[in-house]
Amino acid sequence: MPERLSPVETAKRAAARRAADLVEPDMALGIGTGSTAYWLIRHLGERIASEGLRITGVPTSSQTAELASKAGIALVDLEAAGRLDLTIDGADEFDSALNLVKGGGGALLREKIVAAASDRMIVIADKSKHVETLGAFPLPVEVTSFGWQSTKAAIEDLLPGHDLLGDQITLRLDGEAPFVTDGGNLILDLHLKRIGDPRRLARDLNLIPGVVESGLFIGLCDTVVIGHGDGRTEII
Ligand code: 5RP
Repeated sequence: MPERLSPVETAKRAAARRAADLVEPDMALGIGTGSTAYWLIRHLGERIASEGLRITGVPTSSQTAELASKAGIALVDLEAAGRLDLTIDGADEFDSALNLVKGGGGALLREKIVAAASDRMIVIADKSKHVETLGAFPLPVEVTSFGWQSTKAAIEDLLPGHDLLGDQITLRLDGEAPFVTDGGNLILDLHLKRIGDPRRLARDLNLIPGVVESGLFIGLCDTVVIGHGDGRTEII
């Protein structure tokens, strides 16, 4: 029985499949996190089973590690892999300059480290993720749990000097408790509505003690595969 998918899932699957087809034998691949990356892992698993594709993968989260290993992908850690040929990952938003907001799934730190260790980064996304200006999706910022309220206050002080439309900051929760990342840190979600200068904001956030990393990915992505609800894809 073919799976019946919503248009958004069809779009995610189409983008993921097209990107999975770009993976070549013996590549060292960074594997992203999230519902679009799920389809990527499935298609890579199908290629491994049907054509004997041999790749090594570096997962960007414990969730991805589990899925990828079930799909038959040989996993290594980044230290063993060294430089990667390609990372394929989802995104919460991307603009036409291929700046990204990521971290909706809370994996932004490992995702950014893995992308930065890769020769190329391809984003896979349904077309709703393509925005004129970043910021409608709350910007995740990973912070240490030690002193997180002071870090939050420092971020609040920083925001008025930036071209933004909102300034609310919320601690991400997992039920009643704070959400804890794979690295043991917390996530603050910045409700900025519009980020006029993503590069400057990314730089300034990273100067604050206690900020581990922001979900702004600047200059890391070179290609986006966009999926549409009817199964078509396009590449920008
Ligand atoms: C996880 C991420 C994801 O790539 C992002 O949230 C997109 O997820 P999805 O493919 O489920 O829409 O950054 O930290």
